[in-house]
Amino acid sequence: MINVALPKGRLGEKVYQMFERAGYECPSIKENNRKLIFENAEKGIRYFWVKPSDVSIYVERGAADIGVAGKDILLEYSPEVYELLDLNIGKCRMAVAGKKDFYDDNQRTLRVATKFVNIAKSYYASKCRDIDIIKLNGSIEIAPILGLSDVIVDIVETGTTLKENDLDIVETIVPISARLISNKASFKFKTEEIEKIVEGMKAQVKFDD
Ligand code: PRP
Repeated sequence: MINVALPKGRLGEKVYQMFERAGYECPSIKENNRKLIFENAEKGIRYFWVKPSDVSIYVERGAADIGVAGKDILLEYSPEVYELLDLNIGKCRMAVAGKKDFYDDNQRTLRVATKFVNIAKSYYASKCRDIDIIKLNGSIEIAPILGLSDVIVDIVETGTTLKENDLDIVETIVPISARLISNKASFKFKTEEIEKIVEGMKAQVKFDD
């Protein structure tokens, strides 16, 4: 049996469709209920719906053999997992944004509000820029508006949230997409089954034109 941690929500539904098309369907998952675990014994697959940011924890600790996590989470938490495949969905970017009149005064420490503390720290360390990190848990865009920070480091997908809050992108840090990941021990002991899933999923990946 291969245990798969799926990110709950819109992305997870797309991911499940890819598994389904790859031949790992589990019809009961589509029944509208609040169950979190679904299994197709015949196909040797069991799915769990978990919070997207928790997928890598389940996989790292072996509660799931494989899972799908955003590159943002993998960069931020550096879990000890194998990254097997870029699914080319859930695409967005990690970016620095600020008010339209933002000007970076190098003489001053830059105040950066973010959920992604490690990504922000390593990005500014690579630029030898002194920063003061302000860790927030959501609604990051409000920080520069209220003068809590000079800039934010956050995910930008459509750009609507920035636009509606009169913020602009200052720099893009890294493109983000969903990745198929594996527990290291599972990959060693269930290599054949996992590789078969990777091949099936690879065939479902849609590349950009
Ligand atoms: C994310 C991110 C931005 C928004 C970007 O927030 O933090 O706020 O999506 O998307 P857009 O460019 O399409 O507007 P999310 O909805 O995950 O909630 P959060 O406030 O908890 O971060």
